[in-house]
Amino acid sequence: MLRELTQCSEATQPSREGTDCRPAVGAPATFGQLLRARRQQLGLSLAQLASRVHFDRGHVSKVETDKRPPSVTFAEACDRALNVGNTFTTIATALEAAARQQQGWVHPAQLPAAKHNFVGRRRYLDRLDRVLHGDEQSLAVPVAVINGPPGMGKTSLAVQSAHRAVNDGHFADGQLFVNLRGPGPGTAAAPFDVLEDLLRALGVPTEHIPADLDQRAATFRSALHGREILLVLDNAADTQQILPLLPGSPGCAVVVTSRSRLPGLISQVGAVTLTLPELSRPEAVLLIRSIIGDVRADADPAAVAVLAERCGHLPLALVLAAEHIVSHRHHSTGTLATDLKPEHARLDLAAGEVVLRHAFDTSYKTLDVQTARMFRLLGLLPSYTINADAAAATAGVSQDEASLLLRNLASAHLIRHHDECHYQLHDLLRVYAAELAKHLDTESERTKAMRRAADFYLR
Ligand SMILES: Nc1ncnc2c1ncn2[C@@H]1O[C@H](COP(=O)(O)OP(=O)(O)OP(=O)(O)O)[C@@H](O)[C@H]1O
Ligand SMILES: [Mg+2]
Repeated sequence: MLRELTQCSEATQPSREGTDCRPAVGAPATFGQLLRARRQQLGLSLAQLASRVHFDRGHVSKVETDKRPPSVTFAEACDRALNVGNTFTTIATALEAAARQQQGWVHPAQLPAAKHNFVGRRRYLDRLDRVLHGDEQSLAVPVAVINGPPGMGKTSLAVQSAHRAVNDGHFADGQLFVNLRGPGPGTAAAPFDVLEDLLRALGVPTEHIPADLDQRAATFRSALHGREILLVLDNAADTQQILPLLPGSPGCAVVVTSRSRLPGLISQVGAVTLTLPELSRPEAVLLIRSIIGDVRADADPAAVAVLAERCGHLPLALVLAAEHIVSHRHHSTGTLATDLKPEHARLDLAAGEVVLRHAFDTSYKTLDVQTARMFRLLGLLPSYTINADAAAATAGVSQDEASLLLRNLASAHLIRHHDECHYQLHDLLRVYAAELAKHLDTESERTKAMRRAADFYLR
């Protein structure tokens, strides 16, 4: 098969002088032989070619001797290094397609559609491009983690970035997308079940899916071996949920989204973490405009800016507010901005089943009792930045305990680091925390907490 294909591919070889890599007439022409012929024509040693293509010498040698099939990524590097147009890429692509056909490979394409009105996040998209396209020499699987508060746009960014990669010709063997259903308590998908779905999506027959978690994970890694597949693990609950789902061979890449910081993932698999902040003011305004349309936005640009501000530039809140305007034809942007002046009204933003308050609820419900209490009490403080001393005084706990509880909250992205010693609550999360305190803590508890906080700040 290899030989036939490469012989056919001679038609694709460039005819420019100095770039013809065909071996001598009569010689068989496999990818490896063509590669060796061109390398020798240029007077390059194996080591020199290896260094030009950024693969190790052993890999190049195995491809040259046809002991290892060339990946398209490798072929692209050879084309660039040996100045032969797209000769090797064409052959490798044809070889891969033929191999897939022979083995009955399924080509999964599970990505949800990209947003037609995606705004901003340029810096994050560029960073993801760099991570996903990886270092060709590395044997590790690139893993990018996008984390941040509820509704900050983590899934949208992951999907956008995945489409960009596919559009650029990466991950030609397919894309897998899984909703891991974290972080709600008891809702997270079990890796055992997820692996079954993934194996099925890759065309593994049910009778070949093992009944043991480790064996399922191993079968999944085997099924991915030699393929260039992008795996998007959306909404992960914790690191333990992700580890059995990771591919083992380079060529694949993984994007994880989570409301948690996923401790341990960086040290265990060298994951690159991106923490999403809210949109900038112009991006937030643009997002509202993209939904309500230019006519409505131009009718009252100042109200759009106020609305964006009152939504805290949080994508989910912005989308819900904009959809409210679209679905209430007699409700102008200015009217909604005025309705949202009382802070507590902002948590009621909703469209269909999606309610802003509920998005926060799922994160809050994962907290332990003490961390949840600390979160509620922080909502009572007018100050937007808090340190461990202030938190300890407000909650009436030791400074060590307060530090631990603040770290837990930061890990769940319900508060964020302002600087080394201070934390901050997003405006909408502060309103949400205050609302919880009002419902769940007695008036006397709240008054005592406020008094302790006042004493602390006066001191
Ligand atoms: N950059 C963006 N451009 C346009 N719309 C966006 C953008 N980011 C997010 N959105 C919209 O905001 C809403 C929330 O985004 P998304 O679901 O991606 O957030 P999330 O961080 O994944 O939320 P969760 O924590 O619930 O998983 C969605 O309706 C999405 O379409
Ligand atoms: Mg999401």
